[in-house]
Amino acid sequence: MIKKRFIKIAIDSPAAAGAGTLAKSISKHYNLYYLDTGKIYRMIAYIKMKFPKQFNQAFLKKKIRSIKTKDLTNKNLLTDEVGTEASIISKNKNLRKLVHSFQVNCAYNPPKKYNGSCLDGRDITYKIVPDADFKFFITASVKTRALRRYKELKNFNEKISFQNVLKSIKKRDKNDFNRRVSPLKRTKDSVLLNTTKLNKRACFLKIKKIIDRKLKS
Ligand code: C5P
Repeated sequence: MIKKRFIKIAIDSPAAAGAGTLAKSISKHYNLYYLDTGKIYRMIAYIKMKFPKQFNQAFLKKKIRSIKTKDLTNKNLLTDEVGTEASIISKNKNLRKLVHSFQVNCAYNPPKKYNGSCLDGRDITYKIVPDADFKFFITASVKTRALRRYKELKNFNEKISFQNVLKSIKKRDKNDFNRRVSPLKRTKDSVLLNTTKLNKRACFLKIKKIIDRKLKS
């Protein structure tokens, strides 16, 4: 029997490594509040693309204050262009400060009906939830990630090519791993999971085993 207690799970990963799918299934299984933090940066990128003239700190502050979970499910956020723009704007320290407290609040004060929280992103394990009960770094080969993203994006834009998706994943890796502010990195206390040769179920079971072992001890 799994003990009931407040659980915080932090996941970092490069683009399209399967972290989102995994985080969703883990959150459902343990009844955790799930936040895909990439969606927040995507939302800001989308706002910038849509309202370039109004895009300033005050406008953004107002928008961030009024974020609703359902805003993050907007399908327009899923495009490759928005993802690339997100990796550019997310280098900005002031912008990151603006979303920091929103993310921290989701992690530490999720709605009462949940047993805890699960956040995924690039800086979750060391900046947003440094005291998480479970930390994971999810990765996969760049080609596998590009192929997964290509299949996803095909649903939106039939003209997209695999080579272009591969190029944009590489560009995003470069931006995310090498930036000065909150770079993507694997912390020493994060469990590494390479999903290149694993299907969704196998990934879920591996993570579940690690969580259950600690919860039972
Ligand atoms: O996870 P996703 O691919 O949707 O994230 C889009 C971009 O947002 C990433 O490439 C990254 O630059 C940025 N991001 C970030 N910090 C996070 C989550 C996402 O900088 N915690």
